[in-house]
Amino acid sequence: MRFSIFFFVPWVAAITLEVTSTASVESAASTVAYDMMTFYTGNQTGQVPGLLPGSLSCDPNNDQVYCWWEAGAMWGSLINYWQYTGDTTYNTVVSQALQFQRGPDNNYNPPNQSKSMGIDDQVFWAFSALDAVEAKFPEAGGDDPSWLSLAQAVFNFQRDLWDTATCGGGLRWQVFALNAGYNLKNTISNGGNFQLAARLAYVTGNQSYGDWADMVWNWMEGSPLLQNDTASGLFYIWDNTDSNNNCTTVANLVWTYNYGTMLSGAAYMYNYTNGSDIWLGRVNSILNSSYSLFFPQKYGGNIMYELECEEAQNCNQDQKSFKSYLARWMAVTSIIVPSTADSIKPKLAASAAAAAAQCDGGTSGRECGMQWYNTTWDGSNGVGQEMAALSVIGSTLIDSSMAPLTLRTGATSKSDPTAGSTASKNPLDDLSAITTKDIAGAAILTIIVAAIFVGTAVWIVL
Ligand SMILES: *[C@@H]1O[C@H](CO)[C@@H](O)[C@H](O)[C@H]1NC(C)=O
Ligand SMILES: *[C@@H]1O[C@H](CO)[C@@H](O)[C@H](O)[C@H]1NC(C)=O
Ligand SMILES: *[C@@H]1O[C@H](CO)[C@@H](O)[C@H](O)[C@H]1NC(C)=O
Ligand SMILES: *[C@@H]1O[C@H](CO)[C@@H](O)[C@H](O)[C@H]1NC(C)=O
Ligand SMILES: *[C@@H]1O[C@H](CO)[C@@H](O)[C@H](O)[C@H]1NC(C)=O
Ligand SMILES: *[C@@H]1O[C@H](CO)[C@@H](O)[C@H](O)[C@H]1NC(C)=O
Ligand SMILES: *[C@@H]1O[C@H](CO)[C@@H](O)[C@H](O)[C@H]1NC(C)=O
Ligand SMILES: *[C@@H]1O[C@H](CO)[C@@H](O)[C@H](O)[C@H]1NC(C)=O
Ligand SMILES: *[C@@H]1O[C@H](CO)[C@@H](O)[C@H](O)[C@H]1NC(C)=O
Repeated sequence: MRFSIFFFVPWVAAITLEVTSTASVESAASTVAYDMMTFYTGNQTGQVPGLLPGSLSCDPNNDQVYCWWEAGAMWGSLINYWQYTGDTTYNTVVSQALQFQRGPDNNYNPPNQSKSMGIDDQVFWAFSALDAVEAKFPEAGGDDPSWLSLAQAVFNFQRDLWDTATCGGGLRWQVFALNAGYNLKNTISNGGNFQLAARLAYVTGNQSYGDWADMVWNWMEGSPLLQNDTASGLFYIWDNTDSNNNCTTVANLVWTYNYGTMLSGAAYMYNYTNGSDIWLGRVNSILNSSYSLFFPQKYGGNIMYELECEEAQNCNQDQKSFKSYLARWMAVTSIIVPSTADSIKPKLAASAAAAAAQCDGGTSGRECGMQWYNTTWDGSNGVGQEMAALSVIGSTLIDSSMAPLTLRTGATSKSDPTAGSTASKNPLDDLSAITTKDIAGAAILTIIVAAIFVGTAVWIVL
């Protein structure tokens, strides 16, 4: 039986990580980044730059494919990787991907995706553009738009979709009424837009963005999405509320990325306001509740897990990447809200060590699963698992020298507050265009079906 041990536990196995050693962290991050990029084929002949397998027809329940938004998020994780380690290996691929998918209006609403565009999908690409701004990632140059203008264009697009017709405000999840989920006003869309505005305020110093972030927070706070439960001491950030009943009900699900996006938005606002007590209170509330919910005592209190689905292993493809974002956003918070560093750093360090220990499966012997609290590989792998491991391992390298830059502290990406809006039509024009086209398509289909039906009937009669 000794032989079988060698057979099942390849000797090349596992990612080794000593979190107190920069060299060890860099080496582990480099291995995981490489493994993550083995899923990317968009830079091969005949493939589409910027996309992961399946990104042209998203299905979160198929674990062979990756929705478009996750590809966008992945590029940001590689900008972070470059910033944390100085390894430029992927920079050209990242730059090409972020520019190729920007769409004709330079606002991450490319025609292949626009029919099924969600506010959250689009905003994850804007986050990656902002990662580039804040880390002074090289501009693509030439005629390509600046990283900052791409994020501003997304803001301008989404601003037009603020919907006061129901629920007193808020963004609907979907851009188009034809898509499932249009009725929902969800946290990742509103909270994503909140983070986008907060980061634009921080980066540009333009109060208009700060006012917008305030407005989004206030609307969310007045909706059932945010619930400060003084009895339990928990601040709940629920998943979505339904405009069909004027946002009086809420889906009681908690996800790491929803806490992460609200945390980072509040952290940027805290810093932008030169340390407002209101924002500090919000940061601490979200952080404390994140610790209680996602770093459970049963696993030692410092290892992150996805509460809703990780133990039962029924996370969908999107959800497998969520811990990546909370890790990254906690790391940024520890820099721009310095009083949080002492509580955040041990959690990132323990989670990084645990994540590395979960990267010990598959044919390579180092594929990353999701269950960081367990050193036994959970049998899963994919971009989400690799990205989450990469982000949490890399985040242990962040220090104040990597504080997100602003236009006043060294960022050089060119601002264009009107980006996107000249080329872009009112999104509602797109809606009527698509509606007309789809109705025309449906009508033709109906005629064909009817013709076949009639033809068959005629044939049977004959
Ligand atoms: C595609 O990108 C990967 C990762 O950077 C790289 O290893 C590979 O050589 C690239 N392939 C082509 C055809 O550019
Ligand atoms: C859109 O899809 C077509 C067909 O697959 C492809 O040729 C094109 O490069 C895609 N564009 C983007 C921005 O993804
Ligand atoms: C819908 O909710 C908003 C915000 O709570 C409220 O101001 C408005 O009166 C409600 N409308 C209806 C019809 O109940
Ligand atoms: C923060 O402080 C700086 C420097 O004193 C000042 O220029 C800026 O206006 C302040 N920002 C806000 C939002 O009060
Ligand atoms: C929640 O309530 C507590 C206790 O009143 C307060 O300290 C905290 O700031 C509140 N959190 C938010 C996000 O409003
Ligand atoms: C968060 O936890 C810290 C440490 O346990 C505590 O000092 C702080 O008051 C808490 N903040 C909130 C808003 O609950
Ligand atoms: C804002 O963030 C910087 C790091 O970029 C930090 O040095 C500064 O102390 C933060 N401001 C406040 C008010 O905490
Ligand atoms: C770790 O995974 C193994 C194999 O699936 C399982 O038997 C064990 O119970 C898990 N441990 C924990 C703490 O979940
Ligand atoms: C600030 O941002 C707003 C909103 O995008 C824009 O209208 C305004 O022109 C900007 N102001 C400056 C000085 O850039």
